[in-house]
Amino acid sequence: MNIIVVGTGYVGLVAGACLAKIGHQVTCVDIDKKKIARLKQGQIPIYEPGLSDVVKEEVAAGKLLFSTSLKDVLAKAKAIFIAVGTPMRRDGKADLQQVETVAKEIGKNIKDYKVIVNKSTVPVGTGQEVTEIIAQDYQGDFDVVSNPEFLREGCAVKDFLEPDRIVIGANSNRARDLMLEIYEPLDFKKITVSVESAEMIKYASNAFLATKISFINEIANICDIVGADVEDVARGMGLDNRIGPKFLKAGIGYGGSCFPKDVNALNQIAGTSGYDFKLLKAVIEVNIKQRLLVIDKLEELLDKIKDEPICILGLAFKANTDDVRESAAVDIIRTLTGLGASISTYDPEAAEQAKNIMNGGVKFFDDPYEAIKGAKALVIATEWPEFEKLDYKKIFGLLEDPKVLIDGRNLLDPDEMRKLGFKYVGVGRGKL
Ligand code: UDX
Repeated sequence: MNIIVVGTGYVGLVAGACLAKIGHQVTCVDIDKKKIARLKQGQIPIYEPGLSDVVKEEVAAGKLLFSTSLKDVLAKAKAIFIAVGTPMRRDGKADLQQVETVAKEIGKNIKDYKVIVNKSTVPVGTGQEVTEIIAQDYQGDFDVVSNPEFLREGCAVKDFLEPDRIVIGANSNRARDLMLEIYEPLDFKKITVSVESAEMIKYASNAFLATKISFINEIANICDIVGADVEDVARGMGLDNRIGPKFLKAGIGYGGSCFPKDVNALNQIAGTSGYDFKLLKAVIEVNIKQRLLVIDKLEELLDKIKDEPICILGLAFKANTDDVRESAAVDIIRTLTGLGASISTYDPEAAEQAKNIMNGGVKFFDDPYEAIKGAKALVIATEWPEFEKLDYKKIFGLLEDPKVLIDGRNLLDPDEMRKLGFKYVGVGRGKL
């Protein structure tokens, strides 16, 4: 099927490349001319394992094309996926400007029946809004469906090609059948619901996962007080099939382009509908507090923060990505530099992205040991597997007294680290 994907961010590019891989003829559209020029040469603007290979293969096979003009390519397509950004506004609501602009352009140029697919995470009711925008300029037949994406950064290609479920929200049989045809090559559970329910499934899923994280972080904080180990507690809880082991990893809180934005947006959706979503408010509050705990622990163990050399390992919001959006690590660094600390840092992939969004005062290194040398405290802020394999005996020698090690991701064995001599603090692993 001839398909257009508008937006070449994480979701758009992965969806476009993977839709080509499962047999469709795809054109990815973006208004960013430089990005499209680079993509045409096979250069991927993001670090995402496996994506580059799929893009190159599909481009070589002629199944994946790129364009800067939706208008030029619209006629041939049967379905247009909208996968543009819906960033968080200052008030926590989702900013729908980019979605609205694409809808307007579709309305002005569409000539026959097409299915417009909302893949961006949008508030309930946006499907209707997009329908109205298109109908202002086009009176013919078309359908707007919701097909939320659940892919995670770092394993996006696999998540797209082997999803737990495919959610299709359509209010007409014609649109639903076309969507089922698109996804026919993917033999995974498909659920067809109304547009509104599909929109809600995405928010509810992300909010639930964020709730799991904030919940285990609260348990971790109690574990610290009573002397229990949250890693053992999470393992014990996760063995109950009704709970499951995933998203029970305590740490410095969730970040990224989705959870903070979507949880805030759902809170706003509830608020504007006159509903007080108490649980969700607490989830947000706990997540903010969790980042600050690192600062509290440093203050306690170093006596003061001002002028103290502190090394932060990890800048990405999680491992296997170069994405620093809403990263807890970046947030912690900003707070520490604000308090006058002298920060050195290392990340295997995300340093360049972090440099773009951070003011001066932070020293970036290409080698973890160089970054650590001379610091009084080391904070592990991202769960990169390579941080687990570092030589901690050597690190102990590189650190200055009091040799504090704050393991914000519970990557290391507390007993081993304490045996080496570190003032080790994990998250919910019992008091020092
Ligand atoms: C998330 C959703 O998982 C995905 O379905 C949706 O499409 C987009 O948002 P992503 O943001 O890529 O994906 O990352 P994810 O792996 O879900 O992690 C989100 C954040 O939660 C990270 O900061 C991670 O470090 C944190 N996290 C995750 C925890 O702190 N503990 C956990 O147990 C799991």
